[in-house]
Amino acid sequence: MKILVTGGMGYIGSHTVVELINEGYEPIILDNLSNSKEEVLNRIKLITNKEVKFYKADLCNIEEIDNIFSIEKDIKAVIHFAGLKAVAESVRVPLSYYHNNIVGTLNLAQTMNKYGVYNLIFSSSATVYGKVKTMPVREDEENLGSINPYGRTKLFIEEMLKDLQNSNPKFNIILLRYFNPIGAHESGLIGEDPQGIPNNLMPYITQVAVGKREILNVFGNDYNTPDGTCIRDYIHVVDLAKGHIASIKKLQENCGLQIYNLGMSKGVSVLEVVHAFEKANNLKLPYVITERRPGDVDELYADCSKALNELGWSAKKDIIDMCKDSWNWQKNNPKGYDK
Ligand code: NAD
Ligand code: UFG
Repeated sequence: MKILVTGGMGYIGSHTVVELINEGYEPIILDNLSNSKEEVLNRIKLITNKEVKFYKADLCNIEEIDNIFSIEKDIKAVIHFAGLKAVAESVRVPLSYYHNNIVGTLNLAQTMNKYGVYNLIFSSSATVYGKVKTMPVREDEENLGSINPYGRTKLFIEEMLKDLQNSNPKFNIILLRYFNPIGAHESGLIGEDPQGIPNNLMPYITQVAVGKREILNVFGNDYNTPDGTCIRDYIHVVDLAKGHIASIKKLQENCGLQIYNLGMSKGVSVLEVVHAFEKANNLKLPYVITERRPGDVDELYADCSKALNELGWSAKKDIIDMCKDSWNWQKNNPKGYDK
């Protein structure tokens, strides 16, 4: 079964392509390589022993998408990862984010409609949850809202896709709200390869551990949490990838529009991540407590019972596995995908 994977060269996309191949699907990647490297294809081949078809194309160019759909006649579903994702950058250049993420998705949806491809899985984010009062957060939480342009692109796209499915019930659309994906494939061949200074906690930690950065800044220890540092719901990227396989199966039941949280349903603080990393890898991680980072909420973790009940999916790998695999990837690839 042919599955088009937009953004399939990226962090979550590449892990999902591997799981798709493992499950006997035929993934086809569309990516403009704006935040990924062609070397990913070689790595996927090393892991799976399969050659993946790759189209270098930009979702903002509808003719390039049309071209792929006209060649690949029998695409059964699309998993749509492609998008820009750096929160701080989105505050600096909001129009680039609205353009890339929203126009890209519009072009993709229009082309799917034209070619009668009605099955779509979209990468949304826990960032769509606004100031939530009670944890864990469920999909039917009414308090949606994001404080940055990146998060708003996710919210607007969710709404756009709801309208589309409402107008045309042939569409089956699953919105997956990811919590905090970390970790890497156990082979150490694919993983997260951020450009420049990492924005997120785990890649920063691994770059400190490998000696590329001096010290980890822990952003604030005066939050309303047991150890004062922020609490998030970290999920192993391979578990997350498997959530997409479960979602493809759900699409085949003509599920209409569905939303699922994908996380561990467990809150872990920044200092707990630091200590888990030290324990898992038997090393010491230098860190210092600094100012809060603007926009961070005290805690955010998921109720994933809907995904368990309806997709038969739950995350299996714990924080120690996540820390081991993140480090295994980083130490084997100190420069990421660059040789
Ligand atoms: P990533 O940057 O590693 O992968 C995204 C891929 O999309 C990249 O390979 C990039 O080159 C490609 N891309 C971007 N714009 C494109 C365009 N216009 N046309 C074609 N290709 C394009 O990001 P990721 O971490 O793998 O995230 C995948 C998706 O999941 C994104 O939509 C992201 O917003 C969402 N998400 C990520 C996280 C996270 O923490 N990583 C959390 C929640 C949601
Ligand atoms: N943190 C540090 N030091 C760092 C980096 C992060 O202390 O160098 C802290 C942050 O303050 C936060 C926690 O680690 O408390 C996690 O931060 P991340 O940046 O790794 O993750 P976020 O929860 O802020 O955001 C991530 C993705 C978003 C996504 C969101 C969903 O970056 O794209 O998860 O919850 F929308």
